[in-house]
Amino acid sequence: MRSIGVLTSGGDAPGMNAAVRAVVRSALAEGFKVYGIYDGYNGLIKGDIQELTRTSVSNIINKGGTAIYTARCLEFKNMAGVMKGKETCEKLGIEGLVVIGGDGSFRGAADLSSVGINCVGIPGTIDNDIACTDYTIGYDTAMNTVVDLVDKLRDTCNSHSRCSVVEVMGRRCGDLALNAGIACGATAIIVPELPFDFEKDILAKIIEAKKIGKRRHLIMVAEGIGGSQEIAKKIEDATGIGTRAAILAHIQRGGSPTAKDRIVATRMGDYAVNLLKQGIGNRVVAMKGNDIVDYDIHEALKMKKDIDRKLFELADKVR
Ligand code: ADP
Ligand code: F6P
Repeated sequence: MRSIGVLTSGGDAPGMNAAVRAVVRSALAEGFKVYGIYDGYNGLIKGDIQELTRTSVSNIINKGGTAIYTARCLEFKNMAGVMKGKETCEKLGIEGLVVIGGDGSFRGAADLSSVGINCVGIPGTIDNDIACTDYTIGYDTAMNTVVDLVDKLRDTCNSHSRCSVVEVMGRRCGDLALNAGIACGATAIIVPELPFDFEKDILAKIIEAKKIGKRRHLIMVAEGIGGSQEIAKKIEDATGIGTRAAILAHIQRGGSPTAKDRIVATRMGDYAVNLLKQGIGNRVVAMKGNDIVDYDIHEALKMKKDIDRKLFELADKVR
């Protein structure tokens, strides 16, 4: 019987479980045997692998995190680690692998494909930072988590007439800050892709908002900018408005996935199995508009992503 494996790698994201479930169920429906590889590429190196049945993935579609766990496996960044992974696959007769993760995980998948194990990547990260796809699994859930939390902050900010500096995840990508910022009615949004000037891009906007009678202010800052405590202090010193920083951190990565994340994950999981069934590897599954498509991994990794500048201008227009 033909066999495939599935693993999750890098930072976890809500919806990874829905993707694993879809891979398992679609692969079984196509007559494959399916192996779950635990702790990302570590499982491939250490042989921490278990056969997954239909019921192994019951009751996980609604769960955050990843039931087969994840890791950042340094050993897999070297060809020696990749060769160990290949040996494990050959021992178990695993002919193809679905790798759910971010662009680092796709590099590992490309390396393993180059030594003869077909790998297909599925974008799973709350950052939405993968250039080849309009959407990464986990992004919608994380964005809604941010909105829920900021709505709570809004209550207390309004009561006290304060300013909140909210730091959301995203080291190199400001999508979460920009879109959650729009959804929360932010006074200013600061992202790593665009330069910013404290006086013009933050201070002047707060002063203008105060003048027209706004009681509360929200400054949405992407993690890649850093220094949210310092930004809060500078705002308070310059305006006299009580200002607090809130670093939302890993809370953004947890929780039950939204319907959107479950549906996209299910479509991508099935698509990945279909590629492997045809003996196709070294591909990344992506979303373009509402279609699921695929790209060569190396080509996908070369693509560059930019922030949506029109959306950024809109956020400023309606602040
Ligand atoms: P993400 O996939 O979320 O971007 P990382 O960059 O941490 O997360 O990558 C996850 C894992 O993918 C790494 O721990 C490593 O096992 C593997 N990986 C990352 N970069 C490479 C690389 N250049 N070559 C091979 N494997 C890699
Ligand atoms: O890539 C997902 C992500 O959550 C980023 O937004 C963040 O910068 C990073 O992972 C945090 O990594 P760690 O889990 O190692 O703290």
